[in-house]
Amino acid sequence: MITPQRYGPWAVVTGASSGIGREIAVQLAAAGLSLVLVARREDALAQLAATLPGETLVIPLDLAAPGAPAGLLARTAALPVGLLVNAAGFGSGGAFLDTDPIAESQMVDVNCRAVLELSHGFARRFAAQRRGGIVLFSSIVATQGVPRSANYAATKAYVHSLAEGLADELAPYGVDVLASAPGPTDTGFAHRAGMTMANAESPVRVARETLAALGRRRLVVPGGFAKLLTAGLTVTPRFLRVQIMKQVMKSMT
Ligand SMILES: NC(=O)c1ccc[n+]([C@@H]2O[C@H](COP(=O)([O-])OP(=O)(O)OC[C@H]3O[C@@H](n4cnc5c(N)ncnc54)[C@H](OP(=O)(O)O)[C@@H]3O)[C@@H](O)[C@H]2O)c1
Repeated sequence: MITPQRYGPWAVVTGASSGIGREIAVQLAAAGLSLVLVARREDALAQLAATLPGETLVIPLDLAAPGAPAGLLARTAALPVGLLVNAAGFGSGGAFLDTDPIAESQMVDVNCRAVLELSHGFARRFAAQRRGGIVLFSSIVATQGVPRSANYAATKAYVHSLAEGLADELAPYGVDVLASAPGPTDTGFAHRAGMTMANAESPVRVARETLAALGRRRLVVPGGFAKLLTAGLTVTPRFLRVQIMKQVMKSMT
């Protein structure tokens, strides 16, 4: 259960300007935590902050920029933080040959490098205080290669594996690490990725199931459709999974 005593009094939420991160922030504030809200769009963060009960600190930041995660760690050094939610991230869809290599590289910076640097910095703090939580956003695309979204799926494979390793390593320090692996969710993600989504889950449910799993499990697949798809993929040979995801991605891009 999320309480200020266990995971607060402050939580840092990246990607809080939209979608899943925004809903996580809303639900954490309702649970009594104070929030550091991080994303590039300062106006959206400020609007959210104005609606939340309790204290907030808005930090507009481009996590693709070198030094940005270190800057966030420095800005929050004096705050008693007990929870990090790494929800900032984006994807892309379509032929790999047509993608912009700079944007794809920035995707690695936001989805992987920033997640690594923030998780490392906060893990040290949480281990020293012998309590805390770190949430990382994987995806149903993380467990096989995905044609027409190959780099995005690879970034999520990295996050999935990182979370799995850290969950075991940090448990003796009283630090709970959770990978959340949603399926299609109705957020700003599809628009930025140039995709269309059917059977999209609500970010409210994804946030709720993710926070409910923290401290209880190391991996959660939030949402009904994602659970169904994951169950089907789990019993399918890997080479076939790639072909299934290829068809899924074809219909979405
Ligand atoms: N939606 C899905 O279908 C789905 C499925 C599985 C996993 N996920 C994962 O869930 C997480 C949340 O995504 P979402 O669905 O909520 O998408 P979203 O509505 O587009 O939200 C993404 C968030 O990331 C922030 N962000 C993007 N680039 C950033 C940057 N360079 N620096 C700082 N912040 C940045 C965005 O804020 P600004 O634009 O203001 O910077 C926004 O707050 C992501 O990691 C995504 O990969 C999503």
